[in-house]
Amino acid sequence: MDETSRFAKKNAGILAADKVKDGMVVGLGTGSTIFFAMEALGLRINEGLSIYGIPTSYQAEFRARSYGIPVTTLCEHPTPDLTIDGADQVNPYFQMIKGRGAAQTREKVVAYSSKELIIVIDETKQTKVLNTLVPLEVLPFALKPCMDAIIEANGMPTIRTGQKKDGPVITDNGNFIIDCDFGEIHEPERVEDKLTFIPGSLSSGLFTKCISKTKVIVGHADKAVFVERKV
Ligand code: A5P
Repeated sequence: MDETSRFAKKNAGILAADKVKDGMVVGLGTGSTIFFAMEALGLRINEGLSIYGIPTSYQAEFRARSYGIPVTTLCEHPTPDLTIDGADQVNPYFQMIKGRGAAQTREKVVAYSSKELIIVIDETKQTKVLNTLVPLEVLPFALKPCMDAIIEANGMPTIRTGQKKDGPVITDNGNFIIDCDFGEIHEPERVEDKLTFIPGSLSSGLFTKCISKTKVIVGHADKAVFVERKV
């Protein structure tokens, strides 16, 4: 991560952490931007803030614990007050693509369960039209039928492979990730539905059903701002 991007992400994370109130249950997304929010929350906890966090991955859980954020689960708190999370791309309608870190299934469960969602991104993640790879978590048993269904839906599927592990990435849920190239996605809701209905698929990185409760913070090198959603 270069310095400009680091400051942009940090500014976005800090502004999101400012919105957390005492007593809240907060969904904690995965990735580098939310970590800055967690770091800021850790500092506020040292000063007396009392919250619980619901991590969306092992990485988020380890990080939350390291910042002293008490963790809980959706069993204890099925409706978190707020979730803070990053994204890979966000369009003007606040439809987005997530899942670069293969955590989108738990992220979607927590985001969709929450009363409110704050997405923290740097300015490079804003796009007019979504066009980056859409990750899809699938059961290993269903890999081939899922690949075929993606091709049927005009996507180009690639099995995600590990960086320091030979073979496929295994998610926190024990599944595979297929990265789907759809080129420009002009009807994200339709594509999300198509992927969701493939038997053996769990969750795609397309988030199109929670825009009404979503706020987006865009971080820049010197500031962070909430942006208006286009209607
Ligand atoms: C995790 O699987 C992803 O959904 C991340 O939340 C997303 O990729 C944003 O990550 P960064 O904040 O690291 O860019």
